[in-house]
Formats: sequence, C-alpha cells, structure tokens
Amino acid sequence: MTVSQMRRRNVPQRYILPLQHRPTLTDRNPMQQHCFFTRPLPVIDLSSLDNPLLRSRLVGQVSLACKEFGFFQVINHGIPVSLTKDALDVAQEFFDLPNETKMRLASDNVCKPVRYGTSLNHVKDKVQYWRDFIKHYSQPISTWIDSWPSDPPTYKQKMGKYTKAINDLHKKLMGLVFESLGLKPDYLKKEVEQGSQVTAVNYYPSCPEPSLALGLPPHTDYGLLTILLQNQQGLQIMDKTGNWQSVPVIKGGLVVQLGDHMEVLSNGRYRGVVHRAVLNSEKNRISIANIQSLSMDTKVGPASELVDKRYPVMYEEASFGGFLKFISGNNIREEKYIDTLR
Ligand code: SIN
Ligand code: FE2
Repeated sequence: MTVSQMRRRNVPQRYILPLQHRPTLTDRNPMQQHCFFTRPLPVIDLSSLDNPLLRSRLVGQVSLACKEFGFFQVINHGIPVSLTKDALDVAQEFFDLPNETKMRLASDNVCKPVRYGTSLNHVKDKVQYWRDFIKHYSQPISTWIDSWPSDPPTYKQKMGKYTKAINDLHKKLMGLVFESLGLKPDYLKKEVEQGSQVTAVNYYPSCPEPSLALGLPPHTDYGLLTILLQNQQGLQIMDKTGNWQSVPVIKGGLVVQLGDHMEVLSNGRYRGVVHRAVLNSEKNRISIANIQSLSMDTKVGPASELVDKRYPVMYEEASFGGFLKFISGNNIREEKYIDTLR
C-alpha cells in the first residue's frame, strides 16, 4: 500500500523507525540555529553568471559552498516561476489520481525508466519510508517523454518544460563547479550536454506522528548535481559537524546538491552531501529532484588534472547504468553507489 492511500491518526508499525534513527533525537537543537559558530546555508545569486567581471566572485562562492557543505541554493537562475509552479501543480495532480491509475506504472525494477513506487525501495526496506514517488528518465527528452505518465494530460508538457529548463541550468552550474576546481568551464562539455537526467517526483503526505518516521533516510545521490525544488520545508542536510540542518524554502530558489559522481570526479576534493527528508503533520509536501550526470553508460572517474601526490586516485571508475545492473542482481539498495567505488 502506498502512503497516499493512508487515512490514519497513527503511524502504522511498519513505518516506525528504531529510536536512534528517529528525526527528533538526531536533530540539531533549534537553539543552536543562531549560534555564532553555525555557518548559514549558502545562497548564491546567479544574476552575474554571464558577467565576465563578476564571474570569478561567483566561482569563489561556489567553491566555498561545495567545500563546506556540498550544497547551496541558487536564486535569479533564470527559470520562470510559471514553470516551477506548473511542475509542482501537475505533480500534485498526478498524486491525486486514483490509485489504480498510478499503480499501472508501479514497478520494483530499479532499471525501469518510468516507475511509480513507495518508500525508498519498499521490497528491501526493513522499515518503510513515508514517501510515494514517480521517477522517470528525462534526458534525452525525445527518447523518454512518450513513456512518461499520460495522465494528467498536461504532465508531459509541464514536466517536460521544467526538466528541460533544469537540464540547461545544470550545464551552466557545471561550468561554475568545474571552474571552482581549477578546470576549464567547458571541461567535459560534450559529455555533460549528452548527459542523463532522472526526475524523481516525491510526495510526502502529512504524517500524524512525524517524529517517528522519515520521508527518506540519510543518503547521497549518485549523480554530479541534483537540482531540487520543494514546496514545503522538509529537506535536511548533514553539515561537517554531523548536525542536521533544515533547508529553508526560498521563494524562487532551487536547491543544488553535490552527488557521488561529483565526489569521484573531483577525486574527493568535494563530497556528496548526505541528506534526508523529514515529515510534518500539517501539510502534504512535494519535491522534484532532478539527478543530473553523464550518460548512463559513461564511466565517471577522477579527473586526471585532480590527481597528484597529495591526492592519489581515491575512487574506481564506474557508470551508473553498470551500478544499477549490479544492485538489481545483488541485494543492495540504490543509495550505496559510492561505497562500491572507494
Ligand atoms: C531526495 O533526496 O531525492 C528528495 C529529498 C527531498 O524530498 O527533499
Ligand atoms: Fe536524494
């Protein structure tokens, strides 16, 4: 049964986490939020992206955010609010559909390019997570769009416009991130242009006892960057001190998270950010995560420019497609990508 179908005053037993994994116990003390030693989460204004005089300052901000958090939010990124609103609205319409309609897309096979599901991997999770999702491959868009949900009827058009805009933003962001590593901004330009994009549309219905369960467990994403849109607060990232920090919803803002492939490519100079989704008892929450990387079959390894005596090769090369085949043949959950490369 998916979470959308649940109408309960209590969280069913199968969602209740062991004490040490519950969100309240491991959360940052709210009083600490304003302590002087807590760095605020970085917000980067992209309005000077194409201004050659101001670009180096932007690159500096990206470098600091990637080193300190593996995370930042961007504003003035050029994606119109109408596109983000349409994407969130059509996502809500999808999750409001009758269960039988959504279940036609249900699959446990992690290699399927379009799949509706619940939890992280409801077959392998010992405790279930309070999340339903629709995931689909989105780039190259012409290859995949026909296989996306045809209900709601505007899904393809609205989600298509949004994911295309995100894919374009990703290329610009990768230029900045490469530059922040001392590489040329057009490093791997062709590979990034021909890269993959997986859209995960997540739905977290309001939860009667949010302190007992999680929407998603702590994990890193496998790709280079994940660009995420959220309509309610719920994403938390782990900072360097091991504290969970809530990511505020910024009007017009988008979240950028570094993934495992970025960690590998930077040969460990940058780390993929550990994050999780917490729940609330008031409102349903939707997030749209676009996981961007090189093509599914391109092996990602450390950039040779970033390998030296101080930084010997830290990771093996691997492709995400190969990894998916590996985990579906073995009993491993998909958030363990990086562990296989170290
Ligand atoms: C994700 O990790 O894919 C989603 C996190 C969120 O819902 O904020
Ligand atoms: Fe994630």
